[in-house]
Amino acid sequence: AVENQVRALLAQMTLEEKVGQMTQIDFSVISVADGQDAENPIDPAKLEEALMQYHVGSILNAPSTPNNKAQPIGKWRRLTQQIRDAAARTRLKIPVIYGIDAIHGATYTQNAVLFPQAISMAATFNPELSFREGEITAREVKASGLDWNFAPVMDIGRQPLWPRLWETYGEDVHLASAMGSAYIRGHQGDDIAAADKAPTCLKHYVGYSYPLNGKDRTPAWIGERALREWFLPPFEAGVLAGAPTVMVNSAEVDGVPGHANRHYLNDILRGEMGFDGFTVSDWEDIIRLYSRDKLADSPREAIKIAVMAGVDMSMVPFDYSFYYLLLDLAQSGEVPLARIDEAVARILRVKYRSGLFERREPALPEAGYFATAEAAAVNRQAAREAIVLAKNDHRLLPLSKRASVLVTGPAANLLSVMNGGWTITWQGNKEEFYPQDKPTLLDAIRQKTEGNVTYVGGKQFSDEINIEQAVSEARRHDIVVLALGEKTYTETEGNIDSLQLDPVQLQLARAIFHTGKPVVLVTFGGRPRIITEIANQAQAVVLGFLPGMEGGAAMADILFGDVNPSGKLPISYPRDSNDITPYDHKPIEAYESNQYRPLYPFGHGLSYTTFETNGLRLAQPAIKTGENLQLSVNVKNTGNLAGKETVMVYLHDVAASVTRPVKQLKAFKKVELQPGEQRTLEFELTPRDLSFIGLEMKRVLEPGEFIVTVGSETASFHVLN
Ligand code: IFM
Repeated sequence: AVENQVRALLAQMTLEEKVGQMTQIDFSVISVADGQDAENPIDPAKLEEALMQYHVGSILNAPSTPNNKAQPIGKWRRLTQQIRDAAARTRLKIPVIYGIDAIHGATYTQNAVLFPQAISMAATFNPELSFREGEITAREVKASGLDWNFAPVMDIGRQPLWPRLWETYGEDVHLASAMGSAYIRGHQGDDIAAADKAPTCLKHYVGYSYPLNGKDRTPAWIGERALREWFLPPFEAGVLAGAPTVMVNSAEVDGVPGHANRHYLNDILRGEMGFDGFTVSDWEDIIRLYSRDKLADSPREAIKIAVMAGVDMSMVPFDYSFYYLLLDLAQSGEVPLARIDEAVARILRVKYRSGLFERREPALPEAGYFATAEAAAVNRQAAREAIVLAKNDHRLLPLSKRASVLVTGPAANLLSVMNGGWTITWQGNKEEFYPQDKPTLLDAIRQKTEGNVTYVGGKQFSDEINIEQAVSEARRHDIVVLALGEKTYTETEGNIDSLQLDPVQLQLARAIFHTGKPVVLVTFGGRPRIITEIANQAQAVVLGFLPGMEGGAAMADILFGDVNPSGKLPISYPRDSNDITPYDHKPIEAYESNQYRPLYPFGHGLSYTTFETNGLRLAQPAIKTGENLQLSVNVKNTGNLAGKETVMVYLHDVAASVTRPVKQLKAFKKVELQPGEQRTLEFELTPRDLSFIGLEMKRVLEPGEFIVTVGSETASFHVLN
């Protein structure tokens, strides 16, 4: 039915209306000048112009007041209603699709539930929580009157310098695919048109996350085999999960900018993956084919290249240049009308499927769906499961609630350091805009303990800490909680040259260690900053990454033993800035200096109890090509406390026609076990799990021996011809 509706509507559209559908403008284009603080920042004349004269298909982003993008829910509803009303007055009444970066909750609606960022969600190894995050985010986006979420990020996080690492689900293909597709399924349900569901957007297709020098929006060099084995599969999983839109890589891979890459956008995304939704450019990135890449000799040429390569919608975002130039290209025949029709049909298809034509008011009522107690509980649980206990010598943790504690370090008393970019503001760093009722780590420690808690620190990340005072307070207390890390950022603003912690934090840490007091090192931040020296001296290390608005409370729950930690690292935590190796690396000669020796390996994470895996059993010693392999393993809680453990199944292909990783994660399950409880878990590996990208750049499964590893257990099997 949708296809008929799309064809019928397309047949009535003028060329101008079609080109308008392909145009996405920033909110500022329809806003009054300097009126950001206004109760109603929309300029009615500009809105009318956008819809009547330019027929725009999409609007993105939020009004800023002046840096705070988070609006009260009622205001969002009124703003988007004006846009819906204006669209309803146009000749064909085609709805605008309003897009927003709701990457860890409805980040631009005041008091939305703000989840752990993706790197932390990945650390939960709990796809069910990702599903719930998707559900709750879609509901809060829709209750705000918004339509479309620019999430999830399906880029693989294998370059820790990259300032958007934390927006990924980490370095592993299987984990990222599982977490991302669970999110999409929660966000979209079985029917994206349902009132509480909304379309997602896979981004940033593809290779954006792997810049050679670690700087944002700079070139990646990814060979076709690596692209197909590591970078494409999470996007494939996202397409399979039903994501109807894809945002394009701002940078380039092997000399071809994402926005000009016909092979990626057409042959692979549509031809191979079967994607039938629409692609949207990233911010001003079409024009960059001219201004930065020099692929085109004019903005007009840049638009022609991008549209012909398969970009369906342009995030322009500040003017109508795309509209004028594409109209001209279409009128002169340089961009065939068939290509315009194709792009518009894709956009209309998503609008129909998302139920936008059926509704002329916000899909959900203002009350009852937003910031519910149930959503807050899911968020708290996600934050608790996201925190990774990396070290706990002499069982320093959990701390007694009567202990006297010095809390210090620049990350101890800020909400922003736990939330990251795209939170309330673009950079997420305006502490003054954060909700006052949410606890920082310091607040949460104070709320939880009866002991004497002293804080030495500043009010902003960059505030100098009085080291002398911190040292003398450390001497007066039993324990020091030292909270270090980095201030928040995203995109190019977060570029750095080295993963080293800044020297001021090192200085503070060294002075504290000098006192000989036991130290719990807590870190927050989007990237693994180098902590080797201090982690070696701290008795306990707890890695928080970006656990979201409940991060302070969740961290205190763990430090004081109200929650048993269960997070696992979704990346290899490097020992040194220059020693970046993912866990699924290729075979290495036996030199010590060549080995995979991160500070903490992928999948690492301790608990206050102990677990053992035993009895790994493969159903068959050999399978035929094309068959699945069943296996089972026991996992037992051998300690005195209930806890959650993630059992991970790794595979190694012993000999193949191209080199194979030493191991790759193929399946995992997270289970809760009471003290002494043992459970048997069943897994199934598919032919796809056993395959790889062969010499001909196609997926192949070569017969031979494979080794399965689960915990300390190993077994081998053969695939027969
Ligand atoms: O969705 C984002 C993208 O991730 C980075 N550039 C801007 C887009 C819209 O805000």
